[in-house]
Amino acid sequence: MAEFDPKVLAERPISPPAEFSRQARVKSLDEYRRLYQRAVDDPESYWAEQVRLLDWAVPPTRVLEWNPPFARWFYDGKLNVAHNCLDRHLADKGEKVALLWEGEDGSQRRFTYRELHEQVCRFANVLKSLGIGRGDPVALYMPLIPELPVAMLACARIGAVHSVVFGGFSAPALADRIADAGARLLVTADGGYRRGKLIALKEAADAALAHCPTVEKCVVVRRTGKPIPWQPDRDLWWHELVPRAAPHCPAEPMEAEQPLFILYTSGTTGKPKGVLHTSGGYLLQCTWSTRLVFDLREDDVYWCAADIGWVTGHSYVVYGPLSNAATVVLYEGAPDYPQRDRTWEIVERYKVTIYYGSATGIRSFMAWGDEWVSRHNLSSLRLLGTVGEPINPEAWKWYHRVVGKGRCPVVDTWWQTETGSILISPLPGATPAKPGSATLPLPGVVADVVTLEGKPTRPGETGYLIIRRPWPSMLRTIFGDDERYRRDYWGRIPGAYFTGDAAQRDDDGYFWVLGRVDDVIKVAGHRLSTMEIESALVSHPAVAESAVVARPDEIKGEAIVAFVTLRAGVSPDSDLRNRLSDHVAAMIGAIARPAEIRFAQGLPKTRSGKIMRRLLRELAQKGTVSGDTTTLEDLSVIERLAQQKGEEE
Ligand code: PRX
Repeated sequence: MAEFDPKVLAERPISPPAEFSRQARVKSLDEYRRLYQRAVDDPESYWAEQVRLLDWAVPPTRVLEWNPPFARWFYDGKLNVAHNCLDRHLADKGEKVALLWEGEDGSQRRFTYRELHEQVCRFANVLKSLGIGRGDPVALYMPLIPELPVAMLACARIGAVHSVVFGGFSAPALADRIADAGARLLVTADGGYRRGKLIALKEAADAALAHCPTVEKCVVVRRTGKPIPWQPDRDLWWHELVPRAAPHCPAEPMEAEQPLFILYTSGTTGKPKGVLHTSGGYLLQCTWSTRLVFDLREDDVYWCAADIGWVTGHSYVVYGPLSNAATVVLYEGAPDYPQRDRTWEIVERYKVTIYYGSATGIRSFMAWGDEWVSRHNLSSLRLLGTVGEPINPEAWKWYHRVVGKGRCPVVDTWWQTETGSILISPLPGATPAKPGSATLPLPGVVADVVTLEGKPTRPGETGYLIIRRPWPSMLRTIFGDDERYRRDYWGRIPGAYFTGDAAQRDDDGYFWVLGRVDDVIKVAGHRLSTMEIESALVSHPAVAESAVVARPDEIKGEAIVAFVTLRAGVSPDSDLRNRLSDHVAAMIGAIARPAEIRFAQGLPKTRSGKIMRRLLRELAQKGTVSGDTTTLEDLSVIERLAQQKGEEE
């Protein structure tokens, strides 16, 4: 489990600026506590009141059916998610800007709510014409271009289930995800841009589709205009289909529990899990949390810098903000292209008022230096957010001081792919912040830190972060694997949802999330499983065995260290190291490239043959091993590994 530096608790809380609090939805800690108490005392009536945030074709009369661990929220209600994100705004906000898009190459496109609605209707009709209907899985493998949210909302409109696969995943990773979901259609693009380089998405899609017999058609968006391979019986151009499709498509009411999307994420095994989210509860809690946590108001220009391929992009680029009729900034490319002030240039150009980014992003900005920030006028900003990994107090304070000029509250938001929406976060006008802490749970969320037996830990004692009661935007299951859902999340700690995170609470009840306790690692906020990387490594003919662990990284939070034993007769050299690293990138994606590959003659194992990761972790982090090694089969292995590191340095 991660170690905790108690010094941070000595930090004084930072109160929200008085002016911010005066105008905020929730104005004081007392008000938050009253709200929280009301929701704890009677969660059903609390959530029943919130349903009014959405437009229901059939308003629900039931709140929750809970057959642990299976929940159904608002289950007799009907609604359409796309209607809530688009149609309901048309009467008075049709001309309001919904999307402000900027390409990495500087191109710009903007869509009003009316225009976005029309695009979504047209693409929904395209989907129908391709035989896609309610419940059909559709895979989306796209760059960050407006067509991605259009495709998601078009699926939602007709009840198809989207599965967005991050554009940085490689062909085999894409193929696994398409196959698991049984997708019938793939939407992709002729390419994307990243740091000026072309990303060959269509080529990767073709390689994946060679192994995906369920996919009948592939719709391709023209983004780069570069020549691409084409299969005339399968491939269709977006720009040929969409203008020809009718601009109206009814938003049919769906059951509240109609599946909305599957999003694959990494767990403790090599096989990624398809987290399933449904419509009513998910959209409600996204809509509600966007209003509370970002204190969203009518004239905000809101920018969440996450990729839509991850859950943050689903909930806080697309569903939460659009359901609230916000103006959303979407930027296609890298924050340091063409230079390191691209983010601040965009904030200045579009007069962004709310910026929500990753802790890794913030640490990179800090490392690049204040001058990139200070050359821009950032006076439009009024609120800053962070997500995805623990943020160190130093980076938090830098963000608050240099970007926010001390004026902007910072919300450190804790949540997961599985939780669907933010569960622990300050309310910016109410909760005094402590740099490094996600502070307190949102109303309706009953979080705790406990021992393995489920007993609450004392303040300052490390334990497991759990959620005691179901919440509307919780995952409903792992797609196709109810048993894994039960075991992984509800079977570990009696009567509670287990997050996989270690945490502490302090004397004020604030939560300090320390990181994962399982084999999930977070590299630049990207969630990877050590097992996935190990399977990629052992699929290389030179590799006999491998064990992957994380070590702390100043910028990326964690970095991947792979210990590898080679097959007999293969000799280690730096060329092989590069080839193995390329192999991992080809099997999973560049995000999974190890920072370090260490060749070993053997891996430390217990007598029963289990690899002792704890020792390897210690070795990767500190260079030596001090813990208990008594159950180790071959003690010399660990000595040799430690020694070898010394020789390499
Ligand atoms: O370990 C926690 C960390 O990210 C994990 C969830 O990852 P993912 O499903 O990819 O979702 C990321 C975006 C919501 C958590 O189990 N995490 C997320 N936010 C925070 C965090 N750790 C500390 N502080 C946070 N604010």
